[in-house]
This record gives sequence, C-alpha cells and structure tokens, in this order.
Amino acid sequence: MCDMRQDVESVLVSEEELGALCDRLAAQITEDFRDSGRDLVFVTVLKGSIMFAADLIRRIPIPCTLEFMKVSSYGSLTQSSGFIQVHLDLKRDVKDCDVIIVEDIIDSGRTLQRLSELLENRGAHTVRCCTLLDKPDRRKVNYKAHYVGTVIPDAFVVGYGLDYDEKYRNLPYVGVLAPKVYNK
Ligand code: IMP
Ligand code: MG
Repeated sequence: MCDMRQDVESVLVSEEELGALCDRLAAQITEDFRDSGRDLVFVTVLKGSIMFAADLIRRIPIPCTLEFMKVSSYGSLTQSSGFIQVHLDLKRDVKDCDVIIVEDIIDSGRTLQRLSELLENRGAHTVRCCTLLDKPDRRKVNYKAHYVGTVIPDAFVVGYGLDYDEKYRNLPYVGVLAPKVYNK
C-alpha cells in the first residue's frame, strides 16, 4: 500500500502547532485591523496557501473578504526588478483596502516582493503579508513579512497545502520531504 507519510523524513510543524500559530496570527491581525474602518481583503496565493487561509480566517471575527490569486515570479540575472506573471487575478478592486496576502512559504522572497508591489500599484491602502513559513536563509531579495507563523531551516517541506510535484498537499502537518523522493 502506498502511504505518503513514508516519504516524510520528519514532522516539522505538527497539527497542534499549526493550530496554535493560526490562533496567534489571527489574534494579531484582528487586533491590528478591528478599528481600521476600511475593507479587509485576504488575498490567498494558490494553491499552497489554501489550508492555512481556511484555518486563519475562521479565527478572525471581524468582517473580511476572501480572494484568490495564482502567480509565478521569475528570477532574472540581468534585471533586479524581474517580473511577475498573473495566472489568476482578483475579482475585485483593492483600492483603499487593507490587503493581507496569505502565503504558504517565503523562500527567495521574489513572489511576495513583486505581488506586494503589484497590489500597492493598484491603490491598496495597506499591503501586508501573513506567511505560514519563512526560510530566511534562502532569501535573494530584501523582503520581510509582517506576520510569520514560524521560521524554518533550509529544507524542502511538504504538507498542509505545500506540494512537491503537486503531491503531498493533503498531509495534515508540515514535514521535511525525504531527499530520496526528489533525487530519484
Ligand atoms: P519565492 O519566495 O518567490 O522564492 O517563492 C516561494 C514559493 O516557492 C512558495 O510560495 C512555494 O510555492 C514554493 N516553495 C518554496 N519553498 C518550498 C518548499 O520547501 N516546499 C514547497 N514549496 C516551496
Ligand atoms: Mg506559494
């Protein structure tokens, strides 16, 4: 029988820890935006952030809306700014809104740097990022998320939405993928 758990070397963030970090982040966001008077829009970056976004916003008792984007960023050796390709865009205007980008993991930082710029250019009043995981050792650009679930070492992780080759998203925890899987 094929069991995905055999491909996980170690559990990095357990289900209990995921619940606790969602509680903490949701409380911070609620505190920061409860009196803003502006529309609060969560922009979930597909596909890796869906579990996190679902758990996070259920813990936030103030009015908000949920939007989705699918983007990819391209590194460029010759251009420091690079660009971002939008595969699925927002269905609403974010002008004058408080926008929180919900991301699964920050690696090089390019995706979030460029996505933040894009949403700022569309006139959002505030653009902040809430990331489940942060791998600061891998940063290629200077980007810092406002809300960070947990900092992790430089390892390839899967589960709770994060994938390798589109698989492992349905694991209920975040685990380190055994190198034998991608060195095959
Ligand atoms: P970056 O910060 O622009 O380099 O891109 C981050 C994106 O790369 C994330 O949103 C993930 O989709 C993907 N990614 C980076 N590290 C991992 C990992 O360890 N597991 C799964 N996906 C990852
Ligand atoms: Mg992602």
